[in-house]
Amino acid sequence: MSSVSIRNVTKAFGDHVVLSEFNQTFEDGEFVTLLGPSGCGKTTMLRMIAGFEKPTSGEILFGDKVVSSDRVFLPPEKRGIGMVFQSYAVWPHMTVFENVAYPLRIMKMPKDDVTRQVQEVLEIVHLSQYAQRIPSQLSGGQQQRVALARALVAKPELLLLDEPLSNLDAKLRESMRFEIKEIQTKLGITVVYVTHDQTEAMAMSDRVVLINRGKIQQVAPPAEIYDHPANQFVADFLGKVDFLSGEAGGGCIRLDGIEQTIPYDGERVGRVEVAVRPERITLSTKEGTLRGTLVNQYYLGDVNDCRVQVGEKQLRVITEPETYARMKLGDPVYLTFREQIVFDEEGSLEDKLKIVT
Ligand SMILES: Nc1ncnc2c1ncn2[C@@H]1O[C@H](COP(=O)(O)OP(=O)(O)O)[C@@H](O)[C@H]1O
Ligand SMILES: [Mg+2]
Repeated sequence: MSSVSIRNVTKAFGDHVVLSEFNQTFEDGEFVTLLGPSGCGKTTMLRMIAGFEKPTSGEILFGDKVVSSDRVFLPPEKRGIGMVFQSYAVWPHMTVFENVAYPLRIMKMPKDDVTRQVQEVLEIVHLSQYAQRIPSQLSGGQQQRVALARALVAKPELLLLDEPLSNLDAKLRESMRFEIKEIQTKLGITVVYVTHDQTEAMAMSDRVVLINRGKIQQVAPPAEIYDHPANQFVADFLGKVDFLSGEAGGGCIRLDGIEQTIPYDGERVGRVEVAVRPERITLSTKEGTLRGTLVNQYYLGDVNDCRVQVGEKQLRVITEPETYARMKLGDPVYLTFREQIVFDEEGSLEDKLKIVT
């Protein structure tokens, strides 16, 4: 069993509480991402799962085995985990083969078994033909795969990855995402992945645990967290969003600083915050709910990234690239929200309205 249960874990350094009352179970074979801004406590959580840090209070279990509590503390080498950090630290003087074999040598595994297991894992990370090279003869992506192979060679059931791709360039990062995901699926292991990159989290995870200031904000699969953010922080952190405040009532929301209304048939009355994804706004030069002026547009190839002035507010609208050539700055345009998320003033979610026309 390689599920991980975190029960009421709090971690403080001195009187600085870094994580508070963290409760979550990661299922056997699940790919879970801890996502959140820098300093929110992701690495600290991962280090506690690994056994490099002790929780101030609370328990951590692997399956039904307690690895960390008031009374029990299993050191990292007894936890049977694989781990890769941001700085992938492969040993420069050792060959790829020896780098990967290292954990098995420490375990005093018989030579033939070492050879077989290293070859197997090099195959999985597509490095078989580089076994005799030293790291400086490899690209960054290949070096990161060496680190990954070393973490996997002892066949852990749980793999912990802390921003393992952040030192790679954008294109490589993207392809490595799929490779890691593929390896995880092939081996059926549980992965806890730490990143501050929301695209990475969206692309790889079965579930995302979004953390802010040491507190879990939401735990959900990527699509759900994107479409149903639990609060304004989540809506803002994951994806692009326009926020508008206003007053709900009488079947509409009167938007502050815009002096126009949008339809609303939810139950909330009074002050609200409306969140809209820029790619879920229809932009038309002829008709729509809100009238505005095109103040900027950026041709990005796959989309036209626009800024539209509506009253005192500027909204970001992402639309089809073909619109770029058809519009010019200063043109009157109309916006219709195909979807809007309505929060109360404190920022918690009431409902999401789908306005599909
Ligand atoms: N060993 C430590 N001693 C004191 N403070 C620490 C220590 N490790 C981390 N912190 C603090 O805990 C907070 C969370 O850090 P970290 O878990 O590294 O965040 P993240 O990985 O999300 O960027 C930060 O404010 C950091 O300064
Ligand atoms: Mg970190």
